Amino acid sequence: VDALECPIRTVEAADVILPRRARDAHKGDFGKVYLLGGSVGYTGAPVLAAQAAVRTGAGLVTVGVPAPVWPIAAAKLDEAMPHPLPADKEGRLSLEAGALALEKLCSCGVCLIGPGLGRGNGTYAVVRQLLREARLPVVLDADGINALEGHIDVLDARQGLFTVLTPHDGEFARLGGDLSGGDRLGAALDFARRHGCCLVLKGHCTITAFPDGSAFLNTTGNPGMAKGGSGDVLGGMILALLGQGLSARQAVPMAVWLHGAAGDRCAEAAGEYGMTPGDLIRALPGVLNEHV
Ligand code: APR
Ligand code: MG
Repeated sequence: VDALECPIRTVEAADVILPRRARDAHKGDFGKVYLLGGSVGYTGAPVLAAQAAVRTGAGLVTVGVPAPVWPIAAAKLDEAMPHPLPADKEGRLSLEAGALALEKLCSCGVCLIGPGLGRGNGTYAVVRQLLREARLPVVLDADGINALEGHIDVLDARQGLFTVLTPHDGEFARLGGDLSGGDRLGAALDFARRHGCCLVLKGHCTITAFPDGSAFLNTTGNPGMAKGGSGDVLGGMILALLGQGLSARQAVPMAVWLHGAAGDRCAEAAGEYGMTPGDLIRALPGVLNEHV
């Protein structure tokens, strides 16, 4: 994916080459990553994202969740480490969660904020605090993206650091992304350039746009993935590849391609109706194994 002859290009199977793991490697070589998500009502999203990160080769995955969600996350996750954080009455992260999450997050190389966080002013304030204070690359999805509505300056202030946003059309529109003309590529590139971020506009033919005016068009995936939870799996995959030291230009389009390829395998095996986001995670080993 490195050889950029044309600023706009499609990602093909041959572009997706994962680095070999050195014989003498240890888990520290594959990234300590932090994932912040979950709320009472959305307990599955952080679990799917964490499992996807583990299945994509991350060295060590910590998952910050509101305390009421902790027993559920702990029961479901064997390989990732759930980290309980203060919650409000509705079971979402409360303001006090900010400092604790920041401390943990700063011991990691990269973080994903958003899957299943829920919508609340306290939670949104925590997200913005982390974006302001965490001096490391951040992947922002779902309600993590929604926390920027009316606060896009927080994103602009991170231009030197790296931020990846993974909105679907609704989340993109909430941030001021303009899809009215039907030009998804132009809208994604414009947003990435204006805000100095990597913008992954999800859907059929997901677009990954960079601030320098380059973009990748994805060729994998199918409507069997149009089910709650598929996006959470992608977030975990991007997190894992960034944590393993791939550049954003490599990690993000490759994660998008592999996620869709897993979806295509599931559609073949189970059909577009019956396949689930959990199936995507189970299909990852086979797909990844073909690209090492
Ligand atoms: N073709 C190819 N890929 C598709 C298709 C399609 N027709 N439909 C969906 N996908 C892929 C998208 O590209 C994306 O990677 O499935 C994923 C869907 O991600 P999201 O839209 O984020 O959906 P979801 O997983 O349900 O998100 C969970 O978070 O974003 C919030 O409001 C959202 O509550 C929802 C939750
Ligand atoms: Mg989503």
